[in-house]
Amino acid sequence: MSSLLSFIQPLAREAGALLMSHFGKVEYTYKGDVDLVTVADKQAEALIVERIKKQFPDHGIMGEEGARANAGSEYVWYIDPLDGTTNFAHGYPVFCVSIGLEHKGKRVAGAIYDPTRDELFSAEAGHGAELDGKRIHVSKTDNLGEALVATGFPTKKRHKNPNIHFYHHITMRTHGIRRGGSAALDLAYVACGRYDAYWEFILNPWDTAAGVLLVEEAGGKVTGVYNTPFEIVSREVVATNGVLHPGLTKELQNVFENKSIDDLPDLRAVAFKESH
Ligand code: IPD
Ligand code: CA
Ligand code: CA
Repeated sequence: MSSLLSFIQPLAREAGALLMSHFGKVEYTYKGDVDLVTVADKQAEALIVERIKKQFPDHGIMGEEGARANAGSEYVWYIDPLDGTTNFAHGYPVFCVSIGLEHKGKRVAGAIYDPTRDELFSAEAGHGAELDGKRIHVSKTDNLGEALVATGFPTKKRHKNPNIHFYHHITMRTHGIRRGGSAALDLAYVACGRYDAYWEFILNPWDTAAGVLLVEEAGGKVTGVYNTPFEIVSREVVATNGVLHPGLTKELQNVFENKSIDDLPDLRAVAFKESH
């Protein structure tokens, strides 16, 4: 294992253990619309930042809860100390720690740790992706109609989000959509083949830094809806097993361009028809 991974992996586990010590007994406050934050988010970020600063004092840091260090450094750490805070705050056990590292704008290493399942996903550029030390690969599903797909909805400015149209369109063309509430885990699940694809709009660098590298190293593809290359500042993400990329991006483009959008059914008419 490289020295980078041997630093990141135990760090993600340590932060995950800290999250678990608060899980089920934590109060939350609001930092936006329905954007929650807990003491666990803050303590986990403080722990991760402290460890990084000790080991790599010159590296840049960008953490969701406000940590910033060494702007302009060639190396930048993107930290989501608790991805899935809404789940966490409600006692719903789907959340993780996400830590990603870039060097000169290139993704080099990352880890996503789910402490509820004790699952550690990690990847290093050029060396593949792993789950608990075993190599993982994206799925082989080659038909969108047989795909299990994930998406998410933003916690800030949710009234401005049109994703429900995309949700409706894609759910009619796949085995279904899951909305787990943790973007980093969604990406990790594409990497290990549990999901065949995932898309989301309005994400932040700490949501995607580690997960995008995982998907790429597991043989998948990550771009924007119009196939623009993914960069850390990209806010939209389409991540697939590669084979499904043309099909899924085409369908998402159709919605953007107002082509072939299915009308939402009239619920009362459907319910009436089916019960009579
Ligand atoms: C959120 C989760 C969620 C996604 C939101 C993110 P947070 O992150 O990843 O799945 O839909 O866009 O903001 O706030 O729990 O770290
Ligand atoms: Ca997040
Ligand atoms: Ca977070």
